[in-house]
This record gives sequence, C-alpha cells and structure tokens, in this order.
Amino acid sequence: MLAQLHFWLNNEEVRCSEPPGLLVLDYLRKKRRLVGTKEGCKEGDCGACTVLVGELQNSTLVYRPVTSCLMPVGELHGKHLVTIEGLNLPRLNPVQKAIVEEGASQCGFCTPGIVVSLTGYLMQTDQPVTTDGIKRWLSGHLCRCTGYRSLKATCFHLKEVVGKHTGVKELVRNGWLPAYFREMPERLRRIPPPVFRDGRSEEGIVIAGGTDIYVQRGETLPGARVHILNGYPRMKGIRRTGRDLRIGALTTFEELANHPEVQKFIPEIQQYMFRVASLQIRNRATIGGNIINASPIADGVILLLALDAEVVLQKGKRQRVLPLRQLYRGYKQLDKQPGEILTEVRLPLSVRGCQIHFEKVSKRRTLDIASVNSAIRLRCDVAGIIQEAALAMGGVAPIPLYLEKTRQFLLGKPCIPATVEGAIEQAMDEISPISDIRGSADYKRLLTRQLIIAHFTHLFPDRMQVRDYYAIP
Ligand SMILES: Cc1cc2nc3c(=O)[nH]c(=O)nc-3n(C[C@H](O)[C@H](O)[C@H](O)COP(=O)(O)OP(=O)(O)OC[C@H]3O[C@@H](n4cnc5c(N)ncnc54)[C@H](O)[C@@H]3O)c2cc1C
Ligand code: FES
Ligand code: FES
Repeated sequence: MLAQLHFWLNNEEVRCSEPPGLLVLDYLRKKRRLVGTKEGCKEGDCGACTVLVGELQNSTLVYRPVTSCLMPVGELHGKHLVTIEGLNLPRLNPVQKAIVEEGASQCGFCTPGIVVSLTGYLMQTDQPVTTDGIKRWLSGHLCRCTGYRSLKATCFHLKEVVGKHTGVKELVRNGWLPAYFREMPERLRRIPPPVFRDGRSEEGIVIAGGTDIYVQRGETLPGARVHILNGYPRMKGIRRTGRDLRIGALTTFEELANHPEVQKFIPEIQQYMFRVASLQIRNRATIGGNIINASPIADGVILLLALDAEVVLQKGKRQRVLPLRQLYRGYKQLDKQPGEILTEVRLPLSVRGCQIHFEKVSKRRTLDIASVNSAIRLRCDVAGIIQEAALAMGGVAPIPLYLEKTRQFLLGKPCIPATVEGAIEQAMDEISPISDIRGSADYKRLLTRQLIIAHFTHLFPDRMQVRDYYAIP
C-alpha cells in the first residue's frame, strides 16, 4: 500500500507515492540523496538526523525540530520538511558562522543536526535569544568529539549577533534565512487537506509518534501495513468539560507541557516534561503511545496514575472508559482488545484542588529514561489531615504501579514525618523491584524511600524538612 503525498521539501514542491511507514531519514538519504541529514543511532538518541517540520496551525506556520529516524513519511502531507540543505545561503548563516568562529565542530557529524535545531530556535521565537532557550533546543544533540564548551560559546555568540532579531521575517530580512521561507504559509495553504476516514478500526500496526515502535521494530515497519494515527483531528487537542479535562491521545509531551489548561491542573508540568526525552522526541511522543507502550517507567503514565486519570478505548463505534490503573495486567499486558484504539485521557476536575509532585531519578538529567520515577497527589485540610492521596511509582514492579495500600494508609493521617515513615514502610511491601541495567533492587528500594521523602518535603516545606529524615550534621 502506498500513501499519496503532497508536501514541500525545502524549496521544492513534492507529489509522490511512498510506503507510509518509510522513515523520513531513509527517504531523504536514500531516495533524495540529501545526505546532509546524518544517520547516527537511528533510535532518537543522538540528534544527528534532526529536521524541521513546519505545519500550519490556525493559519500560523509553526516549525518543530524532530528526529527524522523515528518519523514516517506517511505524515508529511501538507507539511514543510526542512533539511540542512534547505537552510543554506551563499554565505554562512549566523548559526554556522558562530560554530565556525567558536571552533564548535571537529568531525562535523553532529553539526548539521545542531545547525538545524539552532536555526529552528531562531525562526520560532519572537523573544530575544536566551541561554535557557538555546539549551532547551540543544538538549537532544550529542557531540562525541568537540565537547560542549565551544557549543556554549556558540550560544553566547548567537545571543550577541542575533539578539532580538528572531522570527522568520526578521531572519529573512537580515539575509540569515533563504527568502523562500516567506512564501511557505501560502504554499502550504494551497495543498488540499488529506482525506481522513474515521480510522479507529483500521488494520495495520498502529503508529502514533513512532518514538517507541520505530525503536522496537524499525527494520520491519517501512515494509509493513501501518495505521498512522497522527493527523486524526478528533484524537488531538485538549478541552475542558464540566466534569474533566479531556486530552486527545495524540497530544504530544510538548503540547501537554505548554497547554494553559494543563498548567492549571499541574503547575510544574513544564519542569517535569523537561526531564522527558529531548525536545525532538517530545515534539513527536504522544500521551497515548506512552500509555499503550506500557513501559513500567513511562513518565507520562506515572504522572497520570497519580492524577486518577481515565482512558477511553474505542473500536469501531464501541467505546469504553476505564481507570488508567486498571489498564495494566502484567508486564506489557493490557486490558485492551485487538484493534482497540486509545482515543482520549480524562483528568477529573477534582485534581485541581490537590497538590501534585513528580520526581525522576535517571543517570543523566535529560534525554534519559528513569531508574525510578514517582508522582504523588495530596490534599490536606486546614488542620493538616490528609483528605485525598494517590501515589504512583515506576521501575519498582513489572507495571507502572499505583500504590493502593499506601494511599489507604495516608488517608486521614496528619501530614507529619511519622506518617511519611509509615507510608514508606507500607510502600516497601507493595513494590517488587528487580536488579537490572538501571540499578539493583536494593538501590530502587532506597530510591523509593528518597522519592517519597522528596515529595513531602517539596510539597510541605512548612511541615517537614529533609533533616527530619536524614542525619545531617
Ligand atoms: C530517545 C528517546 C528517549 C525517550 N525518553 C523517554 C522518557 O524520558 N520518558 C518516557 O516516558 N518515555 C521516553 N521515551 C519513550 C517514548 O518516547 C514514549 O513512550 C512516547 O510517549 C511513545 O509515544 P509515541 O506516540 O511515540 O508511541 P508509538 O511509538 O507511536 O507507539 C507506541 C505503542 O503504542 C501503540 N499506540 C500508540 N498510540 C496508540 C493509540 N492511541 N491507541 C492504541 N495503540 C497505540 C503503538 O502501536 C505502539 O505499540 C523515549 C524514546 C526515545 C526514542
Ligand atoms: S539518528 Fe540518532 S537521533 Fe536519529
Ligand atoms: S563534531 Fe564530531 S560528533 Fe560533534
């Protein structure tokens, strides 16, 4: 089966038929010989394959960096795909110039991806260039030979040279971006929209963001029958009803982090999401994929479990709603029928009155999966008695774990260190960690204790402090 596609690749209009599961990276390098986009890990970890994907949103053209090694071509219809070749000018652009002048490239393998990301950052923002902004956009890139010191110098250089002259119009005006970018919104508007059947019961291997499935089955998917969900408008978006917050299963981690309604529910959501993967992956990875992939350390799942989320599963016209904590039966075993699609996640409105906290321990601060992660939801009354509680932990059982007995233990107790010690004891009975590449079973028990303490000391600094739990001289 081939997908009929109509999109723009740099300054070229493309109409083609391709197997929908073919990777954008393979399409670029093997079919188009655009080899500036590098193939490194092919697992989303190095950023060498980064491209920009531009998409019209409410008539504004938004560009996002993504890893082309995990994205199917079947999603390109109506979009603007920008590779390093599409950014070239007769002379160096400010990013390329800064990299050259600061000596931030040696073998050069990582450089095209970094240039694409940093140019994307300058195109996107109407704010002045900031160190934090640059760091965020660089967080998905590995450089194995130059080192990061000269990349840091590149940031300072860009801040000085580009400063507040950001955004596509300004970059084109200064001769820092090819002029064709100005025409892209109108060019994309002229592409007829793709035809969507209500594909919820279509056959084929389901692909949402592709960031798990391509890592697991990357060799077979390009030739397989696939069912690409992305683009089904009904599975996108976040809306509030009188009862709950409804999050489409195709919502990406970045969309979740930046949505004002979600921020009202989970005020620190942006900080939590910064600990998930990299910007390129968060631009693709969906909440639905995180849930159905069923990793015991899935960050999104752990957070949603503590929020008592419900999931909506649909096959054809049949729909059922169940609490997320009932979805997991055993390691990667779900209460889900073949052909059922997860369409929506629902957060009860009552969550808004609670205090919420998420913690993650991983070997690296960003772009790493957790050894152990945990989320908590608590509500105390004015007397400091715990009225509502929910605790979830990842990496300590074959499934993302909802600690029901610990929750029961906490209810009705005063929010004091003795209660927390009791809850830790209870949690130790509920978890069953194993030793693996991310740490020994004993280490994960230690982390469980530390993360529960971290939750309470973070949420209730007036009631307890770290020194209540550890012998600090
Ligand atoms: C470099 C890298 C870093 C990562 N870091 C993290 C991290 O820090 N934390 C973390 O939690 N995860 C991380 N991940 C894992 C991954 O990004 C997430 O699990 C992501 O949410 C998966 O979503 P997706 O849309 O890409 O899923 P996909 O890969 O598209 O799908 C995953 C599985 O779910 C099925 N599926 C997807 N959507 C649906 C649906 N709506 N209905 C039915 N079935 C569906 C697919 O068939 C597939 O089996 C990382 C991945 C990579 C490559
Ligand atoms: S090749 Fe490493 S992230 Fe794509
Ligand atoms: S310059 Fe060689 S990997 Fe970065």
